[in-house]
Amino acid sequence: MTAIELHILGQAADPSSERGVECPGDLPPASDPHLIERARAAKAALGDQVFILGHHYQRDDVIAFADVTGDSFKLAQLAAAHPDAPYIVFCGVHFMAESADILTQDNQQVILPDLAAGCSMADMAAISQVEEAWAVLTDAGIADQTIPVTYMNSTAAIKAFTGRHGGTVCTSSNAKRALEWAFDQGEKVFFLPDQHLGRNTAVLELGISLDECVVFDPHQSNGGLTADELRAAKVILWKGHCSVHGRFTAASVDQVRELVPGVQVLVHPECIHEVVTKADLVGSTEFIIQTINAAPAGSAWAIGTELNLVKRLADARPDLTITYLDKAVCFCATMNRIDLPHLVWTLENLVAGNVNNRIEVHSDVAHWARIALDRMLALPGAIAPTTNATD
Ligand code: 13P
Ligand code: SF4
Repeated sequence: MTAIELHILGQAADPSSERGVECPGDLPPASDPHLIERARAAKAALGDQVFILGHHYQRDDVIAFADVTGDSFKLAQLAAAHPDAPYIVFCGVHFMAESADILTQDNQQVILPDLAAGCSMADMAAISQVEEAWAVLTDAGIADQTIPVTYMNSTAAIKAFTGRHGGTVCTSSNAKRALEWAFDQGEKVFFLPDQHLGRNTAVLELGISLDECVVFDPHQSNGGLTADELRAAKVILWKGHCSVHGRFTAASVDQVRELVPGVQVLVHPECIHEVVTKADLVGSTEFIIQTINAAPAGSAWAIGTELNLVKRLADARPDLTITYLDKAVCFCATMNRIDLPHLVWTLENLVAGNVNNRIEVHSDVAHWARIALDRMLALPGAIAPTTNATD
């Protein structure tokens, strides 16, 4: 294996094979050889009218046009910090664009270039299911001691539920601080919708035992839990997960350690608990980027997060040996729906005065979701401290 290429425990597919649903009207074909010039020209014509945000999991050709890149926490902060641009083009997924709409001014319009860019994890918690779960907690007599904490990767309706019930939003950058804050407010935490981030943070960062974490399955009666189990729990985890990070296995960690002597395993906290406990380092996408940027030349890394990001990190650091921690490819299919044709279509329509795919959160939902988001933004520290999972 050479140090320059990204090593994958299997065969990589081309992310361009993940095509989004077609937009009505004049979506340019992906084969158009002038897409880059068209995007450049439209962006130049819009000037300060447009601010383009790009999540780290976006494709390279989309990231090339982002004014700023970041993880979901940083992008939420940056959207709120740019009140002058009337158009915010969000190259990410639906829940991120909703948060940007909530955090920006009324005269700003947030646009998602492809409305099919959702998130399978966010879809695992519907507001009706969460309201039913809260009724189960109420019947068990624990709702008034329980603080809901929802991961940024949830719908605005779930964020609003959290705000209404005295809780906060968190991201993978500040989940520890959010849980500490929640335990200052109450005795138990109801963590939505990613059971893995909730469990990894509670157990590895706060020292809560695995036995004190229970999983609420919305597809089972009473979440599949007895009232006694709910009363005994400290953390009630929603049964949701990320379809990308959930793929990494403990066996892959063992395998890469055999294949690459001295490798350091660096994973995102959306990975399953067995992977995180076997890893050397765990942290948000910003943390993963900072770790690789600061890595000494010649060091070897196996990274467990989305593949667009890992490929970019490998391209930027040819002096490192970077291995992808899975046998198969793990692009986020919905992140990949935002591609150059959709970006060109969005920008050219803005130049023509047409706002397509505006994301607008209803004012009542936005009010309560904003309360939960503001609680998160008031938490100290944007980037969580380094976690050494094997310490
Ligand atoms: P962060 O951006 O908070 O690291 O979350 C990762 C992710 O899965 C985004 O969808
Ligand atoms: Fe959702 Fe996972 Fe994709 Fe993030 S990487 S948008 S959590 S499916």
